[in-house]
Amino acid sequence: MSILIKNCRILVKDKLYVKNILIKNGKIAKITNKELKADKIIDAKNNLVLPGLIDVHVHFREPGLTHKEDFLTGSMAAAKGGITTILDMPNTIPPTTTIVALEEKRKLAAKSIVNYGFNFGASGNISDIKKAKNIAAVKLYMDPTTGDLKTDDLELIKDVLKASKLIIAHAEEDNVKSLIEIMAKNKIKNHLHVAHVSSEMELNHAKSRKLKNVTVEVTPHHLFMNEKDLQALGAFAEMKPRLKTENDQKALWHGINNGMVDVIASDHAPHLKEEKEKANYPFGVPGVETMLPLLLDAFNKNMITLPKIMELCCENPAKIFRIKNKGLLKEGYDADLVIADIEKRQAVRSEDLLTKCKWSPFEGKILKGWPVATIINGNVVYDNGQIFGIKAKEVQYGR
Ligand code: NCD
Ligand code: ZN
Ligand code: ZN
Repeated sequence: MSILIKNCRILVKDKLYVKNILIKNGKIAKITNKELKADKIIDAKNNLVLPGLIDVHVHFREPGLTHKEDFLTGSMAAAKGGITTILDMPNTIPPTTTIVALEEKRKLAAKSIVNYGFNFGASGNISDIKKAKNIAAVKLYMDPTTGDLKTDDLELIKDVLKASKLIIAHAEEDNVKSLIEIMAKNKIKNHLHVAHVSSEMELNHAKSRKLKNVTVEVTPHHLFMNEKDLQALGAFAEMKPRLKTENDQKALWHGINNGMVDVIASDHAPHLKEEKEKANYPFGVPGVETMLPLLLDAFNKNMITLPKIMELCCENPAKIFRIKNKGLLKEGYDADLVIADIEKRQAVRSEDLLTKCKWSPFEGKILKGWPVATIINGNVVYDNGQIFGIKAKEVQYGR
């Protein structure tokens, strides 16, 4: 089966060109000016075509919390948002901290329509960490958040950093500093990826020793909201780490444009409206459907460039997590791509959302720039409001 996607506006070395993309057997076979023959022709109508986004931080809630989301609904929402690969987090019930739980989750994820991978939870389980096969990273929680995985034993944290090639940390404020100090003091060569950096202080701590094996992730909610949004949204804008000041928000944008930020990830953390309305509401907001529209809108407002979006949402995630054959529009790479209409203006509306939680902190916001079609492993999985439920694959890592 071959598909020719005609009239794709693509970035080649930071410049836009209109090209045709030939897809064969789920891979990008040719990027060309020629009108090659194919079984099926799709006209991208000069729209922007990017590599599918790789979201390294989502909570698809399966098993145990499937009233909030599951691999099918979460992946449908992701596909609609132009995300073609996700890495799931381990704070499910049971948590993904044992080989049995990992293999169980692997079975459940087979229904996903976007490509997927798993982050394994750290909780005094060094021997399981060493045995876990084909995992993206080990997730270390140093602060309280959804789930029960918090670790504050510094010896154990050191052992986790030594036991895994790639560690993602949920660390807030001074805990970012402690982590970097442990990395530096013990000359740890493994890679530390600091999740959802939310403030100037956390950003500076993460980059303080300029360690090459430390990378920084920021989320759309910390980029597009600040603590003032709490007044109107209350619990619907409460997540970990909390929204910070306008000044912190600016520091994150500054970090994006000066190279201090390596990855943008959604931290898609759906909770039901009813749960958010309770006095002891859970923390987290959904994000896979709004991440790319928010970034394209920011591009339209000259806040970020298209190459930067590609670098932080496609290229760097693939590089840092060593995901094979993804993150670039390149011959031989997997045919994971998103077609986006950068002129399309539309409001975020909860009734359009495919996430099970059916709300967004960005509800009502009019954004310019939306994904219109998503192709995963060479299959059209999303096209103008319609989802085609074709199962995707678990990603493989080059290490
Ligand atoms: C996340 C969740 O709900 O799973 N919540 C959040 O506020 N970010 C957990 C997390 O990423 O810390
Ligand atoms: Zn977290
Ligand atoms: Zn998270």
